[in-house]
Amino acid sequence: MNQEIIEKTKNKSKDEANKNLITKVNVNKLNLWYGDNQALHDINIDIHEHKITALIGPSGCGKSTFLRCLNRMNDLISAVKIKGEVIIDKKNIYDKDIDEVSVRKKIGMVFQQPNPFPKSIYDNVAYAALKHSLVKKGSACDELVEKSLRDSGLWNEVKDKLNHPGTSLSGGQQQRLCIARTIAIQPEVILMDEPTSALDPISTEKIEALMLELKQKYTIITVTHNMQQAARVADYTAFFHLGELIEYDETENVFINPKLKKTEDYITGRFG
Ligand SMILES: Nc1ncnc2c1ncn2[C@@H]1O[C@H](COP(=O)(O)OP(=O)(O)OP(=O)(O)O)[C@@H](O)[C@H]1O
Ligand SMILES: [Mg+2]
Repeated sequence: MNQEIIEKTKNKSKDEANKNLITKVNVNKLNLWYGDNQALHDINIDIHEHKITALIGPSGCGKSTFLRCLNRMNDLISAVKIKGEVIIDKKNIYDKDIDEVSVRKKIGMVFQQPNPFPKSIYDNVAYAALKHSLVKKGSACDELVEKSLRDSGLWNEVKDKLNHPGTSLSGGQQQRLCIARTIAIQPEVILMDEPTSALDPISTEKIEALMLELKQKYTIITVTHNMQQAARVADYTAFFHLGELIEYDETENVFINPKLKKTEDYITGRFG
């Protein structure tokens, strides 16, 4: 086992010691097909509130597919069939009476490539909040923009150029802008699909530090190919393989004492 990973998991805060875990997202028998190709098989998982859960596994194992099920982003892909339940706050988000816009408001998403809108820094953050009528234009909106940019650790870098285009920022700053945009609509869960894979090490460090802060307020589910990152930030880790959830446990257990050989083989780099 990689010594560095062992040290990182050991050094993490042990808030699991007194487990007062609250399930934020409860997934039951989730199956997904793209046409005839089944990409997820009977996934069952309870994701804990105010924790960071990392999804790991080899390319094509279904991590992004699974993540997109949690805010109904797969609805946007034609020929997708989904069976099973994703229960958030006692409601199955796939129930007929639930509209997907409200789901996506509650469950925000940050993507691999920073993707700011072709708008100013200010408007990137304000846009969805105004659209959802969370604030009115004017001082309330200004305050929300400032708070969201402060909470995403970007305020000091952009406060004097809020009218500059979001795309004029560096990649790492753009990703923090996308996080600010996500938290501006006050979600409860934040999904992140390889949020740092396009970033340099310093920007990556800033996003990881930010994730650790954000978990106080939000539940974070993140996909990563970077084992060190999972070990550094995640309280829980879920290992996927060929569309199945193979092992899910506290990160320390998954990395140091995996229950299954397949997990160990992946963690130690024997495949993937
Ligand atoms: N839009 C789509 N249409 C059809 N098949 C898809 C689509 N998206 C993903 N798949 C298939 O579903 C399976 C899981 O893909 P997914 O993108 O979820 O994997 P992943 O674990 O996120 O991989 P990576 O680490 O490379 O991002 C793969 O076989 C993939 O080809
Ligand atoms: Mg993916």
